[in-house]
Amino acid sequence: MNIKENISLKELNSFHLDVKTKLFVEVFSEDELREILSQEPFCALPKLILGGGSNILFTKDFDGLVIKNSIPGIKVTNENDREIYVEAGSGLLWNDLVRFCIKKNYGGIENLSLIPGTVGAAPIQNIGAYGQELKDVFYSLKGISLEDISTKVYSKNECEFGYRDSIFKRELKGRFYITSVIVKLNKNPEVNLNYSALKEEFQKLDLKEIRIRDVSEVVCKIRRSKLPNPEDLGNAGSFFKNPEITEEVYLKLGKEFYDLNSHKLTSGNYKISAAWLIDKCNWKGKSIGNVGVHAKQPLVLVNLNNASGIEILDLSRRIKKSVFEKFGIMLEEEVNLV
Ligand code: FAD
Ligand code: EPU
Repeated sequence: MNIKENISLKELNSFHLDVKTKLFVEVFSEDELREILSQEPFCALPKLILGGGSNILFTKDFDGLVIKNSIPGIKVTNENDREIYVEAGSGLLWNDLVRFCIKKNYGGIENLSLIPGTVGAAPIQNIGAYGQELKDVFYSLKGISLEDISTKVYSKNECEFGYRDSIFKRELKGRFYITSVIVKLNKNPEVNLNYSALKEEFQKLDLKEIRIRDVSEVVCKIRRSKLPNPEDLGNAGSFFKNPEITEEVYLKLGKEFYDLNSHKLTSGNYKISAAWLIDKCNWKGKSIGNVGVHAKQPLVLVNLNNASGIEILDLSRRIKKSVFEKFGIMLEEEVNLV
């Protein structure tokens, strides 16, 4: 196995932050992973599992072993008249799995087209977009404990999925290496146009029949129109989560802000648009030194010019402070801070 020392992670994180890791290895199979986890001196070192690096903010160099996940593979494990179970290696790009399924007309992940990163990271925050979440199609995942190298399978219930959340972001944070994921898809797909921006686009198109590949194309078009491509401008997508507030807070804010952007949840609470909150604090398009707030989507913080992670963290703290002062709402990071 090729262990590298003191290498830069600049090309391996979507913010393009020039941090170093003490040790680095890329793994292509479960066997390679087991080998590295059981070997001295690696077993005792702090470890970071790295997928596409599109949801990580490095605030300093990493004093341990970064394991870049490149476990490949895609196969059908089971099927019946209606459903098909597709298993993907965790190092496969998420969008490659989406494209594979669209080509075969397996429905259920087309609204999640073009989300950057790997299959293995998708369950960590239960990726979601345009009216779909991974949990809607998730069947199970397999992986290896970084502590005792045991193999474990997690069912959907055991993953404790929530909005941008799972057990792997909490109790099992940094302790479990996901090696493969199984999704259960529909062989006779029905398109999901519940997300209003998507519905509006299709009303304009006025198609006779809408296939999942049409949904994917429209999702890609919307995404390209508002989210910066990390290849051109370092970013990690939404930096914060959309906050949830109680009805009481919602009613109070509604009196002051007639255009409050929110929707009611089944719990009776309300989800507020973090982009709207940040926009109302006049952060859109602003920059401080080497970092900035994207002009088309203020939830996205961008690296304008060889910024450090600390500069991005500092900008995020200023934004949190001003949103809190104006609305009494504390934003929570979606991005993983390292
Ligand atoms: P990384 O950033 O490499 O890792 C993220 C976290 O998961 C880290 O804590 C890491 O240690 C851990 N991890 C990674 N792989 C594994 C593994 N195999 N086992 C255990 N732990 C692991 N997200 C959405 O939900 N919806 C969106 O619409 C969306 N749009 C985005 C748009 C842009 C332009 C960008 C840059 C990001 C966007 N994201 C979105 C965020 C990001 O794409 C997802 O969170 C994605 O799942 C991260 O994948 P990754 O492989 O890059 O993970
Ligand atoms: N908005 C503003 N000002 C702006 C831009 C947007 O007020 O300049 C408001 C608009 O009112 C708009 C609302 O924000 O209606 C929502 O915007 P958008 O449709 O882009 O959705 P979002 O809530 O900002 C979420 C996810 C995205 C996901 C999209 C589409 C979170 C934290 N973010 O963004 O996920 O792609 O919905 O479903 O839930 C990510 O997680 O990294 C990510 C990009």
